[in-house]
Amino acid sequence: MDHASHTPLASLYPAHLARVMASADAALAAAGKDHLVLPSGRVRYAFQDDRPLPFRANPNFLHWLPLTDLPDSWLVHSPGRRPTLVYCQPDDYWHLPPAPPHGYWPEHFEVVVVRDAAEAARHLPPPARCAIVGDPDWALGEHVPDNPQALVGRLHWDRACKSEYELEAMRMANRRAVRGHLAARQAFHDGRSERQIHAAYLEATGHAEPDLPYGSIVALNAHAAVLHYQHQRHDLPDAHRSFLLDAGAEVAGYASDITRTWHDGDATFAALVAAVDAVQRALCARVRPGVDYRDLHLEAHRRLAAVLEELGIVRMAADEQVASGVSAVFFPHGIGHLIGLQVHDVGGFMAGPGGGRTGPPEGHPFLRLTRPLLPDMVVTIEPGLYFIPMLLERLRAGPHAGRVDWALVGRLAPYGGVRIEDDVRAAPDGAENLSRDAFAQAVA
Ligand code: GLY
Ligand code: MN
Ligand code: MN
Repeated sequence: MDHASHTPLASLYPAHLARVMASADAALAAAGKDHLVLPSGRVRYAFQDDRPLPFRANPNFLHWLPLTDLPDSWLVHSPGRRPTLVYCQPDDYWHLPPAPPHGYWPEHFEVVVVRDAAEAARHLPPPARCAIVGDPDWALGEHVPDNPQALVGRLHWDRACKSEYELEAMRMANRRAVRGHLAARQAFHDGRSERQIHAAYLEATGHAEPDLPYGSIVALNAHAAVLHYQHQRHDLPDAHRSFLLDAGAEVAGYASDITRTWHDGDATFAALVAAVDAVQRALCARVRPGVDYRDLHLEAHRRLAAVLEELGIVRMAADEQVASGVSAVFFPHGIGHLIGLQVHDVGGFMAGPGGGRTGPPEGHPFLRLTRPLLPDMVVTIEPGLYFIPMLLERLRAGPHAGRVDWALVGRLAPYGGVRIEDDVRAAPDGAENLSRDAFAQAVA
């Protein structure tokens, strides 16, 4: 990440920081604490090994600062004061230490540079008055992350609604991912392997693999039926029928999460992709403040069930498919989730800023967001239809087997499935589709 002051994020950062501080003040008041203390995180190692695992910074820390690669540092916020950043720049000749503090953020902090991780403790307030949010493994002497529930809940609640700075970072993260998606599509049409397509994606986004917001799903043919397909095979398949790519990018700690499905032109599968795409666009257009996301999920089921019926895959009315669980055989995941600093952002089940939990609708356990949408929430909308052998076998053994065109299912199964996913903002006057805007700009 380039933190130079010319980034479009620079001018938006002060208002973002003011908002983060106001949220922290309210959270400290709710918890009866004086100081919010946020460790950036610590590098972990593989078991009985000196090999470091990829570093993932504390997202609570990243809400304040775009410093995704600064372990052993600590942020201290005390209401009414400038926040302090204890910036760990170790004397280490084995590794390249972080550069000195630079960019659009240092002028807003008291920055204290320390030369080793333990030295940071001398710059933290007495632990009894601190709320420390982080992994307990990151404890530094008596400063042990305690994650007070009332405080963490309030921070998570607020984080769902994005500032202008965050929205701009997410627009940039979408544009970055779209560069990768277009390169990957070309690599698919050029007949490359999953691993080669993945390499094309990384090259076009400028990401190294550990910096991706999540492991890319690079699925040729029937692999598209594996919802979180985790491999990238190096060998070439027998044909390039279909290609599902679920891959994002990151800017200033913020994620994008985009899925596209491409194909070889087969008319039957093309019709399925076009139908899911139309459903996805209709659902995206429904994103706005006040909408209950659970309703969007149930609407997705009805619309996708209608597609299954129209294309002759299932001979059952949409409502009956939803009620009987048949639509869930072909669409067995949630319509989406909050997105931001984490690709599956926190707070999706919260009933209010003070706590409480709203669960998913009965029979839909995989929905990760049950809150009514608020202005400037960003959510994904990701309907899909898949031919998953394990779920199809159960359907075939059950009472509704006679309502399925199994020959057609068999014909489509080698294509795996379809998912189309965008990141969509609940803008005050409707939906802003960050992903489709990025595609449109890329081809303009
Ligand atoms: N990439 C995982 C998801 O779409 O939620
Ligand atoms: Mn997603
Ligand atoms: Mn995804």
